[in-house]
Amino acid sequence: MKALWYRQTLSPVVAVVDVGTTKVCTLIGKKGGEGVEILGVGLSSSQGIRKGKVVDVARATRAIWESFALAREVAGEDPEMIYASIAGDFMSSFNLENEILLSKSGREVNRRDLEKVVEGARNSLKLSESRIVHIIPQEYQLDDQKGIADPRGMIGSKLKVKVHVVAAQENHYHNFLKSFSDAGLEVRKIVFQPLASAVAVLSPMEKEIGTALVDIGGGTTDLAIFYGGSVRFSQVLPIGGEHITSDLAIGLRTNKEEAERIKVSQGSVFSRHIRQDEMLEVKDLGLSSLQTVSRKYACEIIEARAKEILLMIGRGIRDSGFFHSLRGGIVLTGGSSLLDGLSELFSSVSNFPIRIGYPESKNFVGNIQTLQNPMFAAACGLLRQAVNDFFDQETLVSLEPPNAGKRILGKIKDFFMME
Ligand SMILES: Nc1ncnc2c1ncn2[C@@H]1O[C@H](COP(=O)(O)OP(=O)(O)OP(=O)(O)O)[C@@H](O)[C@H]1O
Ligand SMILES: [Mg+2]
Repeated sequence: MKALWYRQTLSPVVAVVDVGTTKVCTLIGKKGGEGVEILGVGLSSSQGIRKGKVVDVARATRAIWESFALAREVAGEDPEMIYASIAGDFMSSFNLENEILLSKSGREVNRRDLEKVVEGARNSLKLSESRIVHIIPQEYQLDDQKGIADPRGMIGSKLKVKVHVVAAQENHYHNFLKSFSDAGLEVRKIVFQPLASAVAVLSPMEKEIGTALVDIGGGTTDLAIFYGGSVRFSQVLPIGGEHITSDLAIGLRTNKEEAERIKVSQGSVFSRHIRQDEMLEVKDLGLSSLQTVSRKYACEIIEARAKEILLMIGRGIRDSGFFHSLRGGIVLTGGSSLLDGLSELFSSVSNFPIRIGYPESKNFVGNIQTLQNPMFAAACGLLRQAVNDFFDQETLVSLEPPNAGKRILGKIKDFFMME
């Protein structure tokens, strides 16, 4: 009741924090017209996070706080709830089924039945030292009728559900949350990163006909396969753009910043298209002098690692069992999807239609030019989901009116004192 009152009164200001391996991005926004109005953006460079995993809580806390504080300053408002995104090779996912008896003679399915059958799936899980992050219904079966998206109001005697479960190892999940709580931030919901990215870049049609979402970030490559409107498979591969940069730094005998600059400005995965005599000026390891190196050689290094990443993605798609069901092809997103030639190379070796997924501007109100980059797919999707969740009747019942920001920001002062 309170939630309904709140929903009618005003829309809450929400903050979302996408914790990546190379950057932490906070967006603050609220519902605006048919979309989401972005009130503030805060970026910080990631620290204490390796391959999506918090390896140094104090440094991760600082990076999260910096990004959050920047966004809050721009927004000029305290958010009333926080969503955060998570991914790393400490996460696993699988599919599961559960069945309940409605009544021998049959009766109408109601909302409580849906909760009960999904809850039963959750209770049947015996995960040791893992935390369930998501348990997402894929489809229902009522007696012999399969593939039902929403069986409410239909009559039957046995209700079955297929769910997709995403779990995280307890210790890493704890470290992740601790990095927020030490910054004085209370996270209301954690979302698996590829699912957040999918909210920003996939269309309902793509989710329906079968599409693989691949978020190639700095430290991880996250995969989520959608079919029949729901997620069917997900996986985190512990490889990303930082590996390309590291290879380049070693191969060109330079530091990572210089290697990153060369990768982004001069890199390509098609080394055979580059002439032998094209040369690059690269700072040496001590950054004291310039050396001349062949651009073709630099691109051969990039190409080798890019091919390894594509091979791993291909293997993931085969393992999913949906290889032959991807009529929507593959949507690449994440910062590394911008690597020159990557999507063309992938399309030539895989025969799938491939496109690069940018956060869709039509879902946002105002100027989101800076966010229209694949590296912001997870943050934009997360914000869209956080705002929509609040207006979704399904989730509404579980939401209490937020406590005017006091609770989630309670310890911020203490964190300031640490500075
Ligand atoms: N134009 C570009 N060409 C090549 N690589 C790029 C380009 N722009 C960004 N990148 C790469 O994208 C990566 C960062 O992407 P992104 O911001 O999506 O990662 P992240 O979210 O911080 O990390 P993760 O999701 O893996 O934890 C970096 O490795 C960077 O070098
Ligand atoms: Mg990312």
